[in-house]
Amino acid sequence: MEANKFKLSFFCLVLCFILLLFSLLSTTVIAAADDTAAMAMLMETIIPTPSNWSKNSSYCQWKGVICEANNRVSAIYLGSMSLNVVPPQFPTLPKLKILDISGNNLSGSFPSLANLTSLQNVFLEHNNFNNIPKGFFTELATTLQLLTLSNNPFPSWTIPTELTRFSGLKEFWCDKANLRGQIPEIFHSFPLIKLSLSQNNLSGPLPDSFGNSTIQYMWLYDQMLSGPIDVLSKMTSLIEAHISRNQFTGPIPDFSNCKSLQEIRLDNNSLTGVVPPSLSSQSSLRSVNLTANKLQGPFPVSLINNSLIAANLDGNNFCTNTGNSCDPQVTTLLEIVAGFRYPLELSDAWTGNDACKNWRFVKCDSKNRSIISIDFRMQHFGGTLSPAFANLSELQYLYLNGNNLTGPIPQSLTKLPHLQLLDVSNNNLSGKIPSFNPSVTLNISGNPLFLKGKKG
Ligand SMILES: *[C@@H]1O[C@H](CO)[C@@H](O)[C@H](O)[C@H]1NC(C)=O
Ligand SMILES: *[C@@H]1O[C@H](CO)[C@@H](O)[C@H](O)[C@H]1NC(C)=O
Ligand SMILES: *[C@@H]1O[C@H](CO)[C@@H](O)[C@H](O)[C@H]1NC(C)=O
Ligand SMILES: *[C@@H]1O[C@H](CO)[C@@H](O)[C@H](O)[C@H]1NC(C)=O
Ligand SMILES: *[C@@H]1O[C@H](CO)[C@@H](O)[C@H](O)[C@H]1NC(C)=O
Ligand SMILES: *[C@@H]1O[C@H](CO)[C@@H](O)[C@H](O)[C@H]1NC(C)=O
Ligand SMILES: *[C@@H]1O[C@H](CO)[C@@H](O)[C@H](O)[C@H]1NC(C)=O
Ligand SMILES: *[C@@H]1O[C@H](CO)[C@@H](O)[C@H](O)[C@H]1NC(C)=O
Ligand SMILES: *[C@@H]1O[C@H](CO)[C@@H](O)[C@H](O)[C@H]1NC(C)=O
Ligand SMILES: *[C@@H]1O[C@H](CO)[C@@H](O)[C@H](O)[C@H]1NC(C)=O
Ligand SMILES: *[C@@H]1O[C@H](CO)[C@@H](O)[C@H](O)[C@H]1NC(C)=O
Ligand SMILES: *[C@@H]1O[C@H](CO)[C@@H](O)[C@H](O)[C@H]1NC(C)=O
Repeated sequence: MEANKFKLSFFCLVLCFILLLFSLLSTTVIAAADDTAAMAMLMETIIPTPSNWSKNSSYCQWKGVICEANNRVSAIYLGSMSLNVVPPQFPTLPKLKILDISGNNLSGSFPSLANLTSLQNVFLEHNNFNNIPKGFFTELATTLQLLTLSNNPFPSWTIPTELTRFSGLKEFWCDKANLRGQIPEIFHSFPLIKLSLSQNNLSGPLPDSFGNSTIQYMWLYDQMLSGPIDVLSKMTSLIEAHISRNQFTGPIPDFSNCKSLQEIRLDNNSLTGVVPPSLSSQSSLRSVNLTANKLQGPFPVSLINNSLIAANLDGNNFCTNTGNSCDPQVTTLLEIVAGFRYPLELSDAWTGNDACKNWRFVKCDSKNRSIISIDFRMQHFGGTLSPAFANLSELQYLYLNGNNLTGPIPQSLTKLPHLQLLDVSNNNLSGKIPSFNPSVTLNISGNPLFLKGKKG
């Protein structure tokens, strides 16, 4: 009995000892699981060694190193430290959220950041990196929120669609980074706030996905982007847009849904049409630059008169420079070509405020007062026919054939008292054909969508 009791307590003692040993061991294991080895590796590989990084002190005291609980490194700030070398692969730092190695003299390939599994903000701009290794974007932690790559001499490359992996991406900076090609349709994929892609070689249109993005600040200036800018008017979070010095065309859209818009720089493009009056009453707007475009219609004096808005309007094709409305015939022609979305060739062809002063596509009567003929045949114009044709009361000949026009022939055209010829052949018009006076020669062939036998 006594012996058994002794055996039992001895067994207990051994068990307790084993348990104690085990728990001691496990604390040692946890203590070792800090960032010592990783930071030692960084200290040895970064050249030159950042000032005051030394084995004599804990890495949490090193310059630019921020730690959180349990001596885990949460941020490393090594911007503008004249670094020449960082390791080709960053070591495992499981809590690192911010890595800044911008403004150094780093060259060659980007380091792999695959082992930094909590990364949120990465600053790599203003270096001499000239290679982005395959897989760099697919290995980056999906926790990424901010990435700056601007001002690096990369070989020509395109915007990586792998950015869609980062469902929390808020800022992407990639200016002066030799990007070419189109801007991809990826901007519905993340809650982007700032997008900076200026001074690259990007071309093609603005993507539709800008329209359901959350972008507030957008810089796309100085490159070869083209096409219309309508999508900007759907970017309801927009505060600042700078798209100067591109090749954008078409009219300025109505920005009334962009309730936060403060600054818009559209200068040095090929925008046409009448400046929408709503722009002058946009209560958030502080600055607008429309210089060096092909804008038409009356000089938008109300923009200048709104003392809250700094407006630059030089170098356009406004019909007046006073703010008075254009000559009625000019106003009518502008209404007509609004239906075609203000083709660029008509802006330079139609300067001044007198449509009977050698305006292309237009012929006037012998007194140079009234338009009697309009010849828009085979100009690749798209869009629709404006009812405003009816205001040209002396019009006799109207050639619209061989374009890409859609929609109906406006009923109002039947009211033109002197009309002799209407040629709309070879377009894509539809609907009922209005009843014209039998004296009018009508050519409607080559419009398969007209409702047959249903003259209205
Ligand atoms: C680290 O400590 C050693 C000895 O204590 C000293 O000789 C050395 O200068 C120190 N190094 C730095 C970088 O402070
Ligand atoms: C290193 O520099 C940082 C910032 O300049 C300072 O806070 C820290 O005390 C320094 N550490 C040592 C060990 O000198
Ligand atoms: C990165 O992680 C991989 C996989 O865990 C490991 O094999 C590699 O050694 C790590 N790289 C560095 C530089 O620590
Ligand atoms: C920058 O790096 C290059 C080589 O990559 C080197 O030749 C040059 O001296 C470095 N410049 C500075 C200021 O460290
Ligand atoms: C744009 O591309 C041309 C050649 O296609 C090149 O010469 C030029 O440096 C590029 N510009 C920028 C800003 O990358
Ligand atoms: C944009 O549209 C897509 C699909 O149409 C939708 O899944 C996404 O939630 C939209 N994003 C925003 C920011 O509205
Ligand atoms: C407006 O645009 C013109 C032409 O690009 C430019 O020269 C001028 O500096 C701009 N002004 C402002 C205030 O942005
Ligand atoms: C428009 O941009 C081009 C090319 O950048 C430049 O040559 C021209 O001077 C600019 N025009 C104005 C009015 O700023
Ligand atoms: C703009 O201001 C001028 C002078 O202050 C004034 O004569 C003109 O009527 C104003 N025009 C508009 C459209 O508000
Ligand atoms: C065109 O005619 C309509 C009605 O016939 C009129 O309301 C409009 O002011 C006219 N437009 C011009 C520019 O004369
Ligand atoms: C009409 O305008 C043309 C071109 O501007 C001019 O050559 C012609 O003399 C003008 N005719 C009359 C009658 O004013
Ligand atoms: C005609 O317009 C349609 C859209 O309305 C467009 O898809 C097509 O490319 C255009 N065709 C030409 C030859 O411009």
